[in-house]
Amino acid sequence: MLSSTNSTLTISGRWQKIRHPLLLQHQQELWVFHLDTTLPQLSGNKWLKLKYHIILAQKMQKSGIATFGGAFSNHLAAVAAMCKHHNMQSLAFLRADNLDLDNPTLALCKQQGMDFTLLDRQQYRQRAEVEFIQHIQQQYPSMLLVPEGGSSIEGVRGVTELDLLNTPAGPANVIISPSASGGTVAGIINATKDVTRVLAIAVVKDDSLKQRITSLLHHNHNHNWQLITGYCGAGYARFDEPLLQFCRQMAKQQLYLEPIYSGKALAALFSLIAAGQIPRRARLSFFHTGGLQGLAGLHYRGLITAADYALLSGLEAY
Ligand SMILES: Cc1ncc(COP(=O)(O)O)c(C=O)c1O
Repeated sequence: MLSSTNSTLTISGRWQKIRHPLLLQHQQELWVFHLDTTLPQLSGNKWLKLKYHIILAQKMQKSGIATFGGAFSNHLAAVAAMCKHHNMQSLAFLRADNLDLDNPTLALCKQQGMDFTLLDRQQYRQRAEVEFIQHIQQQYPSMLLVPEGGSSIEGVRGVTELDLLNTPAGPANVIISPSASGGTVAGIINATKDVTRVLAIAVVKDDSLKQRITSLLHHNHNHNWQLITGYCGAGYARFDEPLLQFCRQMAKQQLYLEPIYSGKALAALFSLIAAGQIPRRARLSFFHTGGLQGLAGLHYRGLITAADYALLSGLEAY
């Protein structure tokens, strides 16, 4: 399995077997894969999505990485940490009207040396437009521009190195991952080469997501996957009490989840199991994509209590 040490950054893979009455009822096995790093902002899909961006930036002799994100973005937190670790600069084009450095995500980014340029909602909408990108690139020629979420060819390449197929009990029949900007699932599909079924659980309401995933796939790996929509609730980053309750239950077996990405997607998987949509006796492999830093932002905005913040982040365990 993927495991390496880069000066002070240690990366290690870990499988966790999950217990749940629905799994017993359907005679299924569920394994969650964690990719842990000593810099927690890089755990899950983050280090994988950024490693080839860093290599490209170094090859192009850029001084750092510039990227896009919202005020509570896991991707911005990861870019800031990754750049600091590699002695590179980081710059965020931040979707915000003002720079709130009490926000724990932005405070963390700032601490790692990240600079910010604020974009209003209208400007931010242009983030993937060629002219806008060219304009930014001209303004910041020494920075490598990385798309929102790190979902580029480089981001996908890193995820492709992940082995989600071989659980400790044998090969999985279905691999499941949350999906937002598409790169993570594209990497998983490219890695499994259509041999294993991949379910991408959309955690955003975005009609272009399927097309974005498809555009990042190797041409011949295009069939054995499905984008599951309809489990996004009220929208991206929205969650309700039953979803929080699900995350609390999982925390009791040391599976720590936030309700925006992995928590929402895993809850969706259990809904699919309950609805009989997942084959009986299947062995399931679920990718925990990280993002636990986001819990601090939810607590900061009063969207979860201090007790939930401690429980869901695993802080209570220490
Ligand atoms: C914690 C977490 N999980 C999952 C995702 C979704 O991955 P992707 O954007 O590659 O679809 C993101 C967003 O990038 C994320 O921050």
